[in-house]
Amino acid sequence: MNKLEIVILAAGEGKRMRSRLPKVLHKLAGESLLERVVKTAQSLEPEQIHVVYGHGGECVPEALAHLPVQWVLQVEQKGTGHAVIQAMPKIDDAATVLVLYGDVPLAAKSTLDAVVAKVDGTSLGLLTVELANAKGYGRIVKQENGSVLAIVEERDASPEQRKIREINTGILAVQASTLKGCLNGLGNANAQGEYYLTDCIAAAVADGITVETVHPHSEEEVLGINDCQQLARLERYYQRQQANGLMANGVTLFDPARIDVRGELRCGQDVVIDVNVIFEGRVVLGDAVCIGANTIIRNAEIGAGTVIQANCVIEDAIVGRETRIGPFSRLRPETRLADAVHIGNFVEIKKSVVAQGSKINHLSYIGDSEVGSGVNIGAGTITCNYDGVNKFKTTIGNDSFIGSGTQLVAPVTVGDGATIGAGSTITKDTPKGQLTLARARQQLVKGWQRPKKKL
Ligand code: UD1
Ligand code: MG
Repeated sequence: MNKLEIVILAAGEGKRMRSRLPKVLHKLAGESLLERVVKTAQSLEPEQIHVVYGHGGECVPEALAHLPVQWVLQVEQKGTGHAVIQAMPKIDDAATVLVLYGDVPLAAKSTLDAVVAKVDGTSLGLLTVELANAKGYGRIVKQENGSVLAIVEERDASPEQRKIREINTGILAVQASTLKGCLNGLGNANAQGEYYLTDCIAAAVADGITVETVHPHSEEEVLGINDCQQLARLERYYQRQQANGLMANGVTLFDPARIDVRGELRCGQDVVIDVNVIFEGRVVLGDAVCIGANTIIRNAEIGAGTVIQANCVIEDAIVGRETRIGPFSRLRPETRLADAVHIGNFVEIKKSVVAQGSKINHLSYIGDSEVGSGVNIGAGTITCNYDGVNKFKTTIGNDSFIGSGTQLVAPVTVGDGATIGAGSTITKDTPKGQLTLARARQQLVKGWQRPKKKL
């Protein structure tokens, strides 16, 4: 097989998005449109990926500098043919060129493989689809014997041609030498005064090349995004596909229309997910995990048998098995919870390790801490980890009991098995196995009377 070179067109303005952000930087399922197209392109293992950018200037390559692509500047946007011309000097004549669009984010690898497979010395591959409403698209003009003759843009089409339902998706694959020949001959005498890539089809046919059409598995695969409604439509389509995939693997979704996966979600057996749950980044749920409604989980691992009740926010955390989190809990980055831990309502944990079986059930903040096993932390307990400049560590020993409303002023260590009386402000280390109290004594004021209203 010839070497494969992929050219992604992404220089257009995207006026109809009515946004300052270049269109290809808008996100679908948490990832920019262009990044998605580049990832699909990578899956075809090409020699190189060339991205033609222009509108929005350097902000596109800057935003996506981590991508392994060749950035090709198209200074003025003079049409799709003109855009491809910019990338051709770096492409070997013997290569196969696949053209993709930066605003068509869901084309499947298998579909693109089929387009590329049509290319040889005498034929090129063109991805087309029949649409109920073909408005706005280039139409595929065929001879009576069914062979493709040309693509006509809607604005240049005759009333007869506008009735054609088979449209150009824009995605095509062709040998570089053939493409170069066709691009050399392009003119811009058309309704938009642009150099159309689509005119290469008629030129190739005139040179004796056969156009082999390939069709996508679904219409959404080839839909381009021009406005926010189309973006929302493809987002919903994509999310439904994700939901279907999860259900096919045995995940129970209370409503497949109310789950969003913006990244990669891996689930064990018998996972149950309530409504309005959002997963971002890489999330792994163990066997029999239950996720309550309205929860957001980003880059986290949740151990088997754990129940996350409604309205939790979990980010960059590792949660053990058989734990109980929520409702209304927040686990912030670098939280590590061991097995059988309970975290209750209005509890925030940050950069802390909580060992097996410990309970922090109500209204607490635990930050920069190491909490041992079997610890009970009473309601309203707070680690004072920050002096306004630096952060300090709190260590809470195994089997200790922290009374409600305690402030632990870090750096501080509570010994194993220690008990802290409720309402204490602990500023010094407390010994193991003993009771420490650090609060004002209760007084009884004899003979005191309530003030009376002056007349
Ligand atoms: C193009 C096709 C049309 C097809 C439709 C599918 C042409 C002439 N027409 O029309 O047959 O049905 O896509 O969606 O090719 N771009 C550049 N530089 C430019 C112009 C465009 O990089 O100078 C990029 C755009 O960013 C976009 C892609 O090329 O990603 C397509 O451009 P667009 O203006 O959307 O073309 P359409 O008019 O939709
Ligand atoms: Mg378009």
